[in-house]
Order: sequence, then structure tokens, then C-alpha cells
Amino acid sequence: MAEIVIVDSKRSAGELVAASVRRLIEAKADTVLGLATGSTPLPVYAALAESFRRNPLDVSGVRGFALDEYVGLARGHFESYREVISREVIQPLGLTPNRIHVPNGAAETLQGAGADYERSIEAAGGVDLQLLGIGRTGHLGFNEPGSSFASLTRVKTLAPASRADNARFFATPEEVPRHCITQGLGTIRRARHLVLLAFGAEKASAIAAAVEGPVTASQPGSAIQLHEHVTVVLDEEAAAELANLDFYRYSWANKPAWQGI
Ligand code: PGA
Repeated sequence: MAEIVIVDSKRSAGELVAASVRRLIEAKADTVLGLATGSTPLPVYAALAESFRRNPLDVSGVRGFALDEYVGLARGHFESYREVISREVIQPLGLTPNRIHVPNGAAETLQGAGADYERSIEAAGGVDLQLLGIGRTGHLGFNEPGSSFASLTRVKTLAPASRADNARFFATPEEVPRHCITQGLGTIRRARHLVLLAFGAEKASAIAAAVEGPVTASQPGSAIQLHEHVTVVLDEEAAAELANLDFYRYSWANKPAWQGI
């Protein structure tokens, strides 16, 4: 079962996860992080940046792989995930740019880009800790409902609901690309530790389906139930539809401090 942690704020969520990432890097200088974009992981990046500011750590060896990228945005487009990762992760954390990878969404070289990405992850020894958000559709990365649990990095079509959700980042909804290249659920499941975060009432049903629903490709988030080490960090609103909430609170409250997440 995934470990469910309910926190009182996004800030607490960020601090909890950042502490775990920091411990990982302290133990393994070339830690491989799985990076997510979107609003959800921002408190983690903010807390990590703050931690490195207060107590500097050599992060020059850290490697990273983003979950996904839009297809066909011009190189350097402000909303391409390459740029987002650079702005929100690489720069504030002081990571080494050429050690941080984002799937290549250039239309001309799309064929083979998925397999190339898989090879790079494998060559790095796999992802140690994968940060994840979840979409209202239940997607992980851009694996929309119906995605195979065995899928690897490949080109996919964004669900209309996901395009609509991401329209807030673009000048007009029409500009949101229709296609993306995303790590598959099979890729994500190979990471050694999954850390799924969700905030707000609009994520509550996707979280309930992921954590407690049947394991089904119709709910991509439910792929976490097939993984041996998953931490789900939620605020009260995102946790609101979980049936076993009392037990999750009890387990967390009684967890030995040394265990970490
Ligand atoms: P969000 O997106 O973090 O911006 O809510 C999550 C997702 O779509 O996976």
C-alpha cells in the first residue's frame, strides 16, 4: 500500500519531500531525480532551494529526467517543459544543465525520441525518486486514461480536459499543443520511489481512484498500487474522498521517525 501523508499546507508538503530529496543527495551525490512540471511540485522545488540556501550542498552531480514535453513547440518557447524545468528547477536549485534531461518534442526528430529517452534513463541507472502530480483525468505524466501500465516513453494525444487545464499557461487555449511525448506508466513504475503530490478539491476524486480504486488503465493513477515504494502527500482537500483516511492518519502518526518517507 502506498503511504498516505496528509499535511496542513503545500509548504509543509514541500518541506517534507525536500528533506527526503536532500537526504538522498547527501547519501548519493549522483542521485537521479524524476522531475515533474505543473503547479504541484513547485513547493518541493521552493523548499529545496531554501534548504540549499540555508545549508549549501554540492548538487553538481545530481542528474534528472523530466516526465514529459509538448510536441512541436518552437525551441526556447516559454512554456516548453525544457524551459519550464530550466526556470523552475535547474536555475533555482543550481543543478548542472547538461545532467538534466527532458524528452525531445521537436517534430522533426520525434521518431526514435522515446526510445532514446528510455536508453538515457537506463544508462543513468534508473530514477531514484520520481516526483509526480496527477491530472483531474487521473493522468500521471501525460498518460491519459487507457494508457498501458507497461507503456514506455512515446508520443501521446492530450485529453481535451488536460489541454483545457493547461490553457492557463498559454495566451489562448488554441495554442496548447495537442500532442506530447511522455514517459510511460511502465517507465514511471521503474523508478525506485514514487512521490505523488496533490492539492485541492479538484484532485480528490483522481486521488481516491489512484489510491483506493480498482487497478485499471482507465485510472492511470492506480498504477501506483503496483509499486512497492510510494508516498502520496496530500492536503486535506485532496484527501477528502479517501475512505480509509483515519487509518492513514493513524499510520503516519505512529510511524517511527527514523523511517523517513
Ligand atoms: P498541476 O498538473 O500540477 O498543474 O495540477 C498536474 C498534472 O497535470 O499532472
